[in-house]
Amino acid sequence: MAAGVHGGISDGSVVEGNSGRRAIAFTVALSERATSTVSLDYAVTPTSASRGSDFLAPTTPRRLTFVKGANGFTPVAKMVTVPVASDTASEGNETFAVVLSNPSVGVLLADAAGIGTIIDDETVRRPLMGAAVRSTTLAQEPGYADIAGTRFDLLTPENEMKWDVVEPQRGGFDFRAPDAIVTFAVTHGQTVHGHTLAWHQQNPAWLTAGGFTRPELIDILTNHIATVVGRYRGTVSVWDVVNEAIGDDASVRSSIWTTGIGTDAFDIAFRAARTADPNAKLYINDYNIEAPSRKSDALYALVAGMVARGVPIDGVGFQTHRTLGSISAPGLRSQFDRYAALGLDVAITELDVRVPVPASAADLAAQADTYAVARDACIAAPNCASITTWGFTDKHSWIPYFFTGLGAALPWDSNLQTKPAYDVIAPLLRN
Ligand code: XIL
Repeated sequence: MAAGVHGGISDGSVVEGNSGRRAIAFTVALSERATSTVSLDYAVTPTSASRGSDFLAPTTPRRLTFVKGANGFTPVAKMVTVPVASDTASEGNETFAVVLSNPSVGVLLADAAGIGTIIDDETVRRPLMGAAVRSTTLAQEPGYADIAGTRFDLLTPENEMKWDVVEPQRGGFDFRAPDAIVTFAVTHGQTVHGHTLAWHQQNPAWLTAGGFTRPELIDILTNHIATVVGRYRGTVSVWDVVNEAIGDDASVRSSIWTTGIGTDAFDIAFRAARTADPNAKLYINDYNIEAPSRKSDALYALVAGMVARGVPIDGVGFQTHRTLGSISAPGLRSQFDRYAALGLDVAITELDVRVPVPASAADLAAQADTYAVARDACIAAPNCASITTWGFTDKHSWIPYFFTGLGAALPWDSNLQTKPAYDVIAPLLRN
């Protein structure tokens, strides 16, 4: 081995693929003999076995830098998408090799190769991975802050951008809590998913009990959006402009906005957000829409109407607060695809999978399977932009407070140890 560097590939698998792309997950590890900082290039290349010839060419090498920590080198899980030639109808046992080389000495690490198998035939994209976070916990718990800052591409303030925090008095804004999260994200090279601008909950009493006229409410709503979205222009890349517009009865929910302004309240909100930041993606976000249902149809009708009216909406957020086994790939794809047909993105915005607590090993294994359904549906859908979990550790999760007897819904446990659900999302996370 060159210069004492010894790299290895393990856990190779092809997560998803379609006629044009393959997503390949693998883990790179370095031997402890290596010096303190090592750069490796990795490339995915066809092998001669079975349908390996589908690959057009090895990928351009990409650089991985390992820095030795107190506990040595941490293995790095990666996912790479590679272009492939037109596919045939049949799924195959296609194989690939991940090849490591050391750029400083230009020597191939000949024994550093892994083999994987095509397991699916769907379109591939790498979604951004996100987590909802709490500003106070980021400040108080270094272990929490470390995971939040290093493993995710984007952060969602769990409560800090809600109306009662940000505008506790009419026209009196308090940005301390959201600023803390935005600053943390920028410091860590992350983007922020803003949540949320027009909702029926967590609104201050001055707003809900103010007895405002329609013109006053339009002024309040547009001023709020102009101020909040304008403040974070360029750093918040996507906004949940409207949250939970459809009720459980599948009609448009009555709220301060729909009763006080009327059916055009959401159009007004989206237009105000576009004006305040023309580059931010603007989403509508809801729960229990992950499969065909009266509610998901009602949301689709609302969104399709907006698109037809030229309202500036870019995507639909699927909260995906779920129980074991309660989502399916076909169910999710049926929804993702019809928004794609409208030209819209989708995202999994608040993923968690609650189980009875204390959680059994069997339930945690089943939970990982439910996470995998969400992951694979998003990877497979060309318009699925991101997967965000609602929190990431069971220590800080809304579930036990809102669902009696249930919890343990997230990929890290309450001691920040990883669970089977973590292994499902790990190939997509930052390292
Ligand atoms: C929840 C938070 O997680 C809790 O801390 C808070 O007490 C209530 O709100 N759908 C949403 C989120 O869109 O804003 C909610 O967040 C969870 C359900």
